[in-house]
Amino acid sequence: MSINFQNIRTEFERNKDLTNIKTDPFSQFKYWLQDAIDAGTIDPTAFSFSTATKDGIPSSRILLLKEVDNNGFYFFSNYESKKAKDLEENPIAAILFFWARTERQVRIVGKVSKISPNKSDDYFKIRPKDSQLSSIISPQSQVIENREFLEKRKEEELKTNNELTRPSYWGGYCLQPQSFEFWQGAPGRLHYRYKYEKTPGNEWNICMLAP
Ligand SMILES: Cc1cc2nc3c(=O)[nH]c(=O)nc-3n(C[C@H](O)[C@H](O)[C@H](O)COP(=O)(O)O)c2cc1C
Repeated sequence: MSINFQNIRTEFERNKDLTNIKTDPFSQFKYWLQDAIDAGTIDPTAFSFSTATKDGIPSSRILLLKEVDNNGFYFFSNYESKKAKDLEENPIAAILFFWARTERQVRIVGKVSKISPNKSDDYFKIRPKDSQLSSIISPQSQVIENREFLEKRKEEELKTNNELTRPSYWGGYCLQPQSFEFWQGAPGRLHYRYKYEKTPGNEWNICMLAP
């Protein structure tokens, strides 16, 4: 039996004027993220992260942005996970933010690299203890026998590792953007789209795309 979703139709009504788009895409991104936070978006820092194997098989999952500066977008994960294996084969990845409350989408493509162990340590130290424990005991993306496997590992870890130090298989990544696209929903599906591409001289070339 098929289910028909043709009557679900959100109208984009905010129609924010995008003629004043900033020349620096990082400033534009920070401005839009702050707007999403101010609008009460749930998990405003959540983004879809897409990797691909060397053969081009894609894979997407949600991650949380922990920092952005003019170098790139920082997030944390397991260095032996599926995404980590994809990145070893193919370091080019895509980030996608969708903020329904502000009717906006941002696409970012760039090269991903691991951040320094010191920077990963700094973030690991400020995580809640339970989150630290989970990143230590979970062999992310691997097949496990059952839930008890994790509970047992948790108990063992608590007995032997009081300090809960960052394991070498968990840490941060930085995606350095080569391109950005900012999308603002508009009435009648005549949306705004602006694309920024990095030139060989490290400037940002901006153009408008048809919706
Ligand atoms: C809201 C949300 C936030 C998440 N944040 C992270 C994160 O910051 N880091 C992470 O490794 N996984 C995070 N996950 C879990 C990932 O989506 C994914 O299941 C996990 O990283 C394994 O992906 P992989 O097998 O493709 O490597 C989050 C999931 C959700 C739904």
